[in-house]
Amino acid sequence: MLEKRISEIQADALARIGAAKSDEELDAVRVEALGRKGTLAQISKEMGKLAPEERAAAGKLLNAAKQVLEEAFERRKREFDQAALTQRLDAEWIDLTLPAPGPRAGSLHPITQIQMEIEDLFVSLGFMVLDGPEVETEYHNFDALNIPPEHPARDAQDTFWLTDGNLLRTHTSPVQVRGMERFKPPLRMIAPGRAFRNESVDASHEHTFYQVEGMMIDRDVSVAHLLYFMKTLLTEVFRREVTVRLRPGFFPFVEPGFELDIRCLICGGSGCPVCKHSGWVELLPCGLVNPNVLRISGLDTEKWNGFAFGLGLTRLVMMRYGIDDIRLLQGGDLRFLQQF
Ligand code: PHE
Repeated sequence: MLEKRISEIQADALARIGAAKSDEELDAVRVEALGRKGTLAQISKEMGKLAPEERAAAGKLLNAAKQVLEEAFERRKREFDQAALTQRLDAEWIDLTLPAPGPRAGSLHPITQIQMEIEDLFVSLGFMVLDGPEVETEYHNFDALNIPPEHPARDAQDTFWLTDGNLLRTHTSPVQVRGMERFKPPLRMIAPGRAFRNESVDASHEHTFYQVEGMMIDRDVSVAHLLYFMKTLLTEVFRREVTVRLRPGFFPFVEPGFELDIRCLICGGSGCPVCKHSGWVELLPCGLVNPNVLRISGLDTEKWNGFAFGLGLTRLVMMRYGIDDIRLLQGGDLRFLQQF
């Protein structure tokens, strides 16, 4: 009779051990079967009433059942521990092959950013991006641009002369000349870069500034072509409608020549130091290339003509970001630069 109950308790406990879904469930089964007041302990008590030989046989069976159950509990417990470990490893993994977080990444200077945008735009319009030297010859900076030595236009560009007769280029226009020397027309090129003038520095003047030169030489190029490209450029850069005006402007290397001004975006036109209190900012001098310039570089003016422009990149950046002092751009102050 007792033997039968022992096997029943064992079978029942084994089934529940297998079915247990958590440590807690498992413990509950263990207490019920093996605990001090558990079902097997109860059997143990009742065994006292048995005859000695029956008691020995039942005792054996009871001990065997206890051992089987202890082992089953241990096995099941290890399964739970293993599952918990796997779950933790899955949730808390660290990828040791990932690079450690390095120092804070820097950012591109706002002038570089706009320059890259303009390069992308003009490349998409079929223009080459050319580079030229910052130390230039007098010929490329002046003579080849129809500015002979005695021309008063030289006075407008207060030049840093070097002792060897060369100079720091006063504009990016010499790259036009180098472009024509190097490539045959038709020609579409831009040349971004630094230029230098002996300016007394204030909120809107620096001795070092950035321009983007542009030139297109083809057959029957007109002011309409020029205006199309200038409008495309300004819409792209400002991503909004800007008010522009076209004035006649004199540059020996263009004819007719224009000053394309935009309504000052710093003050909205009411006047501020950046627009010299005029409400307008000179941004884009341009015009049709003077035939003399083409001739000096050996181009046939019966066949070819073109337009050219000299975008003030530094001014453009100031307009776009509302920077009211040009000196901030080259000042190297990280508090300023980190905003971009
Ligand atoms: N190179 C001129 C300047 O810096 C600008 C310009 C370029 C004007 C091209 C007309 C055509 O002042």
